[in-house]
Amino acid sequence: MTKEPFTKLLDELKLQINNQIFLELSKRKPKSLYAPLNYFLKSGGKRLRGILVLLVAKSINKNLKSLPLNQAIAIELLHNFTLIHDDVMDNSDKRHNKPTLHRKYDLSTAILAGDALLSIAYEFLDKELTENSMMICKEFTSALRIVCEGQALDKEFETRNRVSLQQYFQMISMKTGALIKSACKIGALSANKKVGIEDLKRFGEYGEYLGIAFQLQDDLLDIVGEQKLFGKTKALDLIEGKKTFLLISALKKATGKDLDRLLKLIENKGIKPDEIYKYIDIYKNLGIIELTKKEISKYYQKAKDTLEILNKKYDINDLNNFLEFIINRNY
Ligand code: IPE
Ligand code: IPE
Ligand code: MG
Ligand code: MG
Ligand code: MG
Repeated sequence: MTKEPFTKLLDELKLQINNQIFLELSKRKPKSLYAPLNYFLKSGGKRLRGILVLLVAKSINKNLKSLPLNQAIAIELLHNFTLIHDDVMDNSDKRHNKPTLHRKYDLSTAILAGDALLSIAYEFLDKELTENSMMICKEFTSALRIVCEGQALDKEFETRNRVSLQQYFQMISMKTGALIKSACKIGALSANKKVGIEDLKRFGEYGEYLGIAFQLQDDLLDIVGEQKLFGKTKALDLIEGKKTFLLISALKKATGKDLDRLLKLIENKGIKPDEIYKYIDIYKNLGIIELTKKEISKYYQKAKDTLEILNKKYDINDLNNFLEFIINRNY
């Protein structure tokens, strides 16, 4: 399949997910809760995790009569819940070029809207009970817990002087990898076809590698992303003192003045917005941008290799296209 029809497929699946989400929300009251949720969900999310549920199910069973939309929506709403609270935790003002929920409304609205979204996610998960519902529910709940644990580590690392790359990878595989992994496993469990435990694990592995590459890319786009496209505050990770792959790698490589500056960031637990270009230059001079790109390729390749194993039994074409699409993203 060439790229164009695949982009069309993504748009189509996204539309199906969105139609159901907004139909559901339109029925709900009070407005003080659902207007903010509508605002957030209409702000431009890509729906990638929901789409992935559908693509995995299709790769296992191409004759699937109806796509597991409810499961896809559940995953997507869970993801959006984590984003609403993440923006509070990260002091983010912008997402998809629009004010974040707590900036547009207020903190208590964002907390409650996130909570409500999580419960609606569970309602979607419960909508139709299938043979695998119990496993799907367990997978969903454990992903949620792991994301929270990963988010806790992410916050903890902000105030820690030393974080190793190994600890970093552990943290991102939890805060970002776990949900993408679960999206794949839930897709496999919703395919209406028996999938052996080994294959289920492999689909999860594909998701986890993809998720790690995705977070590395997010760290990179924070620095090199075209702001209008990426839609978030430029270099917020530097401002907030996040221990990203870029910062940890720079700390390992830097000497002299560069090292002093980086250590100052660590000591102050972040930098002022008017200092970002000084730090971006340090990254550039140390070759950190290239290094990050290489690391992304490594995980991309691991995901691709995992698909190759699955290729014997399943139609992995769309999952390959999905990988390609993600790796070339700039927003
Ligand atoms: C943002 O995810 C959070 C990260 C894990 C980096 P997305 O970039 O997929 O966000 P939406 O769904 O499009 O809003
Ligand atoms: C991923 O990390 C967020 C979640 C797992 C919820 P980030 O904090 O880097 O995501 P963005 O950059 O705000 O989207
Ligand atoms: Mg965060
Ligand atoms: Mg954030
Ligand atoms: Mg980020």
